Amino acid sequence: MMDSGLFFADSNRQAQKATKNPSKKLGIYLFTLFSLAAILYGLYQRDNSYLSAEEGWGYILGIVGGGAMLLLGLYPLRKNLRFMHHWGPMHVWFKLHMMLGIIGPILVLYHCNFSLGSTNSNLALYSMLIVACSGLIGRYFFTKVHYGLYGQKVTLKGMRDKLKISKGNLGQQISLSPKVTLLIKKYERLMLKPQNFFIQFSFLPLTFLRSKWLCWRIKHKLKSDLKKQARKNNWDIEMLHNFINEVVLNLHEYFSCVKKTSQLSMFAKLFSIWHMLHLPLFFMLITMGIIHVVVVHMY
Ligand code: HEM
Repeated sequence: MMDSGLFFADSNRQAQKATKNPSKKLGIYLFTLFSLAAILYGLYQRDNSYLSAEEGWGYILGIVGGGAMLLLGLYPLRKNLRFMHHWGPMHVWFKLHMMLGIIGPILVLYHCNFSLGSTNSNLALYSMLIVACSGLIGRYFFTKVHYGLYGQKVTLKGMRDKLKISKGNLGQQISLSPKVTLLIKKYERLMLKPQNFFIQFSFLPLTFLRSKWLCWRIKHKLKSDLKKQARKNNWDIEMLHNFINEVVLNLHEYFSCVKKTSQLSMFAKLFSIWHMLHLPLFFMLITMGIIHVVVVHMY
């Protein structure tokens, strides 16, 4: 069914990929978990909190949170201002931007003790929450039009080349299953046919579910084929597991390539619309923040 040499030649590349990602992912999961825990704890404890926005630690948290949100503005400056182009790698600035975009608003939530106050404070708070949520949405769109969070911008040609390679890797593994080959052919035809932006956008959840379901079905079928093959050829358990891991990795890579290729132009449009909205929201936040600081120090 498959050439084991080809399998293992490729598995080094895949293993490298797999070992690179887990620690990165763990960092993101821990940061997300910590942020959620901090928000839930603050919400839960708000009636028992001794923090006051006007003085002491509550006041300091407001200054640090606001400062963090001013600092994160350095990322777009680093990206767009020529004289800053040699100020360290972009991906570090971007990572810092996203972290400060979460830490800053959390500190400000502690500053206001997770409660509403005067009209000017509420407007500043709402603006901050809107911009931070918008940032999270932007992060999602960003990964759809880039290779990961810190990679290059994706081009349709680059994606089609990647898809060809990924299909080639998978091709060796599905060649003996005509049913799987047919399913994949049908899926690819459906996904890659040109589609209207609004139709593609409204069918996003359905496309997601269809892809997940088909990937699961094919994975199941290929695993059972491999088990039969293992019994026939007396593979040891480790060899079988290596084959299965390889197939699953290639299958996931293939599905993600097809989805990314088919949705690229839609997400590029969504990302550019998001950019147009996010910047004015940022300026609205700055304005509301300044008004808030001036007003609370005047009265
Ligand atoms: C209060 C918090 C935040 C503020 C004030 C803020 C502000 C900004 C600004 C001014 C830009 C540049 C927009 C442009 O160039 O058109 C930007 C871009 C961006 N921000 Fe934020 N942001 C915040 C939070 C976040 C968060 C929490 C995330 C994600 C975790 C995030 C992800 C992004 C992304 C993906 C971009 C686009 C980057 C690019 O195109 O190069 N932001 N943000």
